Amino acid sequence: MEKRRWLVLVILTWMFVFSAGRELKIKHNDCGPIYNHTLATILVRYASTVYLSDLSELFTWTCSCCNDLIKGFEMIEIIVDVQHCLQAFVGVAQDPNAIIIAFRGTQEHSIQNWIEDLFWKQLDLDYPGMPDAMVHHGFYSAYHNTTIRPGILNAVERAREYYGDIGIIVTGHSMGGAMASFCALDLRVNQKEKNVQVMTFGQPRIGNAAFASYYSTLVPNSIRVTNAHDMVPHLPPYYTYFPQKTYHHFPREVWLYNLEVESLVYEVEKICDDSGEDPTCSRSVSGNSISDHLVYYGVDLMAKTWRRCKIVMGTGVAEYSRTDLGGNFILSRDPATSVLKLNVAPDTGAKPL
Ligand SMILES: *[C@@H]1O[C@H](CO)[C@@H](O)[C@H](O)[C@H]1NC(C)=O
Ligand SMILES: *[C@@H]1O[C@H](CO)[C@@H](O)[C@H](O)[C@H]1NC(C)=O
Repeated sequence: MEKRRWLVLVILTWMFVFSAGRELKIKHNDCGPIYNHTLATILVRYASTVYLSDLSELFTWTCSCCNDLIKGFEMIEIIVDVQHCLQAFVGVAQDPNAIIIAFRGTQEHSIQNWIEDLFWKQLDLDYPGMPDAMVHHGFYSAYHNTTIRPGILNAVERAREYYGDIGIIVTGHSMGGAMASFCALDLRVNQKEKNVQVMTFGQPRIGNAAFASYYSTLVPNSIRVTNAHDMVPHLPPYYTYFPQKTYHHFPREVWLYNLEVESLVYEVEKICDDSGEDPTCSRSVSGNSISDHLVYYGVDLMAKTWRRCKIVMGTGVAEYSRTDLGGNFILSRDPATSVLKLNVAPDTGAKPL
């Protein structure tokens, strides 16, 4: 008994030496992106708000989870690909001063089904221009072969004209994290953007080791946050004994988990190694939790209703929308005008589309 108490004391002392308050950070010395906890708690809110189906509130940034928590954000464009049930937005933030691009995760009827499908995703597409790099066709196309990509590139260009040479931060949760990664790579490689930063939450694997290696060279400032036993970062599966054919995460993972010592719980944010598949991070536990997938940093990341592509839009913002033949549409404004001054009443005449 004495011995055990002594051991606990040693552990606790060690933890207080290395922790700031109740947060324990384990750092690596090698260089790479710098993990910023404050930035993560801001970006996770963008990844959360992009799930909103009330586009009037989202466009005018008047939703209860928007302006109260993130002030000084100017929405520039919301892109809704109704055909593929995808949603993303582009706007400009004051802190951090950057163009923010956020992608919504899946809004299928059931998150369980979507996660089960992830087990069977094949590496079935050669990433263009990168020998040996393979990715999953579905993830790639969700960004590259829908109305999402042209909408985003156009909005980024308009933001650039008005706000000048500020950085770009791309974020997203789950499937939205996969799309955020493809978007960041596209901006870097095809649009020659120099300052592109990525932070995703609970994203699945998207490509093989060769792809991960190109990706981390081209978009080094990338953080993949994983949470406790969240299932999705474990998928599609990684097979150590089959290195040529297996999926492989890009670095750098930051793994959030709770460390319990006696009756105390410590929230740990572990900054993982630069391999992308650090065996001491989320891979050290089994990925068996869906609930760990849906809440990051205490913020809910999911649609309010799991109904396929439900959208609500007030008449006030309808004049900002453009619809194509497939029923896909964008809400878009000139960055020089302030949408918040538009006197939009989100509840009047709101109708589901
Ligand atoms: C972390 O990010 C926040 C929010 O953008 C910023 O205000 C702060 O200066 C950053 N801290 C460091 C050390 O870069
Ligand atoms: C892109 O999408 C269209 C229709 O959705 C499809 O016919 C075409 O094969 C797709 N192309 C690629 C490269 O995935």
